[in-house]
Amino acid sequence: MYLLALETSCDETAVALYGNDGLKGHLVHSQVAVHARYGGVIPELASRNHGRYLLPLVESLLGQTGLSTDDLSALAVTQGPGLPGALHVGQAFGRGLAFALGIPLIGIHHLEAHLFSAGLGSDPPEPPFVALLVSGGHTELVQVDGLGCYALLGATRDDAAGEAFDKVAQLLGLPYPGGPALARLAETGCPTRFRLPRPMLSQPGCEMSFSGLKTAVLYALRQVEDPTSQDRADLAAAFETAITEVLVEKSWRALEKTGASKLVVAGGVSANQRLRRSLVQRSQGTGVRVYFPPLEFCTDNAAMVAHVAWFRWLAGEQTPTEEHVRTRWPLESVRPPSCSPQVRQAHA
Ligand code: KG4
Ligand code: ZN
Repeated sequence: MYLLALETSCDETAVALYGNDGLKGHLVHSQVAVHARYGGVIPELASRNHGRYLLPLVESLLGQTGLSTDDLSALAVTQGPGLPGALHVGQAFGRGLAFALGIPLIGIHHLEAHLFSAGLGSDPPEPPFVALLVSGGHTELVQVDGLGCYALLGATRDDAAGEAFDKVAQLLGLPYPGGPALARLAETGCPTRFRLPRPMLSQPGCEMSFSGLKTAVLYALRQVEDPTSQDRADLAAAFETAITEVLVEKSWRALEKTGASKLVVAGGVSANQRLRRSLVQRSQGTGVRVYFPPLEFCTDNAAMVAHVAWFRWLAGEQTPTEEHVRTRWPLESVRPPSCSPQVRQAHA
């Protein structure tokens, strides 16, 4: 029994195969080179490239794993949230293939997939836990009591953490995608030379805001005449330190509020080494354990989609064919695996 998963919510075209023994293989085709010259993702180009690369990726993954479409028992796609056109390409491809093979299609919430991506590592965290979801489009603290049992504890009111990394990187003249480039530059910078604000840290609760931080970087940069590469590195380090401090503190408030003893970090920014170090340092002596996804599963991939789809599929879930993509889809509205009587019978 194998499940094929497709991820096309933004600018990575990704496919994965999952079976009884876990992840069998996965491939990601990054569109970075296509979008880099525009300094950000161009939705129409993302859709076209998903259409171009999905089939060759599926064929090469099947070839690499020695499987054929006859070995597939289920198909999963990212149903939302994401770019409408990009999601449509994945869903149309998945629905067509599922129909041709006579197998069910399961639509997965992209952030739910990120939430459980640490489960692809060697030491999967079991719920309940608090999740710090930090991606390019979302920044949320979520109480996770099981698959499909989510309560929002706090979120950003404006820019997502990844978005802030990308915008600050652009201010510093770094190439797209900015997050990893900024993190590399920050390694050579002095984090204390520029004093940047820690937005909303003085306010109670888990709400966050990062757009003011980006503006503070802009003003600090304007104060420097002819910025050198060291000036930029110092600013990068100051920004990374400020955003990390806020994320760490807000995560701890969420842990205290819920009484949870596990913190799971997920989404593209969970690859950030300063954030990882600071969270682990903060946890020392507190009885809290921090979990991260393996680095290859921090940014968008289909392995994380396959992972949650597998458990939903085993529970008998199947997405009705008339359901559309959901470009805006609050994570809290996701439910535990649903199982129609017909599907339950078919599984019996
Ligand atoms: O989860 P993801 O791949 O896509 C979304 O679902 O949004 O996250 C992408 C985001 C981008 O903003 C990227 O700059 C950021 O994650 N990112 C990083 C790092 N690697 C990726 N930000 C900071 N440090 C990194 N090492
Ligand atoms: Zn993502």
